[in-house]
Amino acid sequence: MAAKPLSLAISTFKGGAGKSTLNVNLAAEFAQQGHRTLLIDCDEQESSTRWYNVSMKRGLLPTDGTLLHLRVAPGDQFRDRLADAPEADIRIYDVGGYVHQRAIEVYHECDAVLIPIIPEPTAATSAIKVATILKEISKKRPQGPIPYAAIWNYVDMIALKHNKVASGSPCDPDERQDSHGGDRHPQEQSFQRCRGRLRLALFQAGQH
Ligand SMILES: Nc1ncnc2c1ncn2[C@@H]1O[C@H](COP(=O)(O)OP(=O)(O)OP(=O)(O)O)[C@@H](O)[C@H]1O
Ligand SMILES: [Mg+2]
Repeated sequence: MAAKPLSLAISTFKGGAGKSTLNVNLAAEFAQQGHRTLLIDCDEQESSTRWYNVSMKRGLLPTDGTLLHLRVAPGDQFRDRLADAPEADIRIYDVGGYVHQRAIEVYHECDAVLIPIIPEPTAATSAIKVATILKEISKKRPQGPIPYAAIWNYVDMIALKHNKVASGSPCDPDERQDSHGGDRHPQEQSFQRCRGRLRLALFQAGQH
């Protein structure tokens, strides 16, 4: 039988904190390191599904089968979908940006949770909310506590706003699909920017 995959979620109840962006980039990073990675989109907005599809088409993601994708729709039975999921070394979950049952189900599955925080006050309160829920679940979980770590995201937001006119918004998959302005596609630039942060996040997660 295959070894149990490492399960990781990127989650906060603050909308627009970069969950889907980090999900896709982190999944791509793992896959590039040779880990068979399954990106599981549990958000009804399907942002990471669109990111995945667009990025695959653009050749920004590994196409050798190391990076796979699974959509879990709101009406799906979570356990059934996981039972049918392709084999992977790592599962990485995109959870929607509000408190809901699916988020709780995902947390129960996870070996670690990364909480993106952006420079806005409500991002901190949302992060605390996630941490509180994780602590509660941890008390009852037979596998033991769920490690979690905050990851700063979007700290270069102001600089990016200034660059918008020249190079376009960095990474909205719907709006940016056909826009290449600049030497490199903004999504590719964002991917490069995220790599350093992801290493930091993994380092922090490893400290817990
Ligand atoms: N590090 C970053 N640098 C620049 N732009 C970023 C970065 N992270 C996210 N963004 C941009 O911020 C916006 C929101 O990101 P994203 O959709 O990943 O957030 P989210 O937390 O998944 O949102 P939601 O709560 O709606 O699911 C997107 O337009 C994305 O391109
Ligand atoms: Mg999202």
